[in-house]
Amino acid sequence: MDVSSCRAALRGHEAEEQILKDNPGRWVVLPIAYPQVWDMFKKHEACFWTAEEIDFAQDAGGLATLPDKAITSVKKLTLLNSASNGSVYGNLSVLSCRLLCDVTIPEARAFYGMQVAMENIHREAQTYLAETLMPDPTQREADIKELLCMPAVQGLGAYVKEHCSTDTPFAEKAAGCALMKRLFSAGTDVVAYVLKGRKLLPGLVQVQSLIGRDERAHSDFAALLYRMLTHKLPNDLVVCMAKDAVEKSVAAMDALVDYQSMGINRDELVGYHKWCADSVLESLSHGKAFMTPNPYTAMTQEMTSKCEGQEVQPSTGSRHIRVCLSGSDTHPKDYFSLNEDF
Ligand SMILES: [Fe+2]
Repeated sequence: MDVSSCRAALRGHEAEEQILKDNPGRWVVLPIAYPQVWDMFKKHEACFWTAEEIDFAQDAGGLATLPDKAITSVKKLTLLNSASNGSVYGNLSVLSCRLLCDVTIPEARAFYGMQVAMENIHREAQTYLAETLMPDPTQREADIKELLCMPAVQGLGAYVKEHCSTDTPFAEKAAGCALMKRLFSAGTDVVAYVLKGRKLLPGLVQVQSLIGRDERAHSDFAALLYRMLTHKLPNDLVVCMAKDAVEKSVAAMDALVDYQSMGINRDELVGYHKWCADSVLESLSHGKAFMTPNPYTAMTQEMTSKCEGQEVQPSTGSRHIRVCLSGSDTHPKDYFSLNEDF
């Protein structure tokens, strides 16, 4: 079956899917009908964090100690990540809203509401990091424009456009989202891990740790919903999507990162992408495609413990919280304040 007839067939079955069909009887969320879905929402809710909690005070100084090519690599990757939620992949908040509109069960809508909120926080935190490492706004804007024109970066956006557009069947959107969320942050996971090993850029390391944890939760959730579908994608199409995601993510890393100066082995980076792709394929209940061992077992063990809430503790950073906490007579009378008596 070719891709377009497969998409048409999946579309035709969506009205029968439990999580997609009209759901007029669920006026309230309780009692919970899908405990596994609700549980993932509650876990994601428990991991809520804000951009103001990250302390970037030592990052610019740490960056300056790296070799020139490594500095350029970190800056380019930071710019990519700061623009990724809004420009590179289309808008990830809009993609999450699209998924929220597709599903009809309130348990899943609660999760996607959380995902939308976190995507905005990722965007904000990545922007603070970019401001810290590249303080000149004119230069930053020019560099982002240049980055967005790079074919390897455009490849990432093309992937999201192909598999996660409004008219894509939900099964393909969910599988595409599960793969993209995991693989497109895999390269940054490795860079952050290398910097953490050298005790450099603690703000970047913490941001990536928190964002990576959220992205894995989003990937796992998309895979959970995919498994709940009766009508799924053909295996060869999902494997093709996984291989394409690996290729595109590695191509972007090749274009942005000087591996030698960063102390990264490219073969291990590629192997890590393939291992991540196999993990997602297994979560989607499709078989592994690469059978590659994980070259970064220590890193993924740390990530797993963070996913279980054992390690990541938001710290009180130096950044000023942009909410009026103290009250001020410079604010108008009806200004929202958190220290009033109610
Ligand atoms: Fe994100």
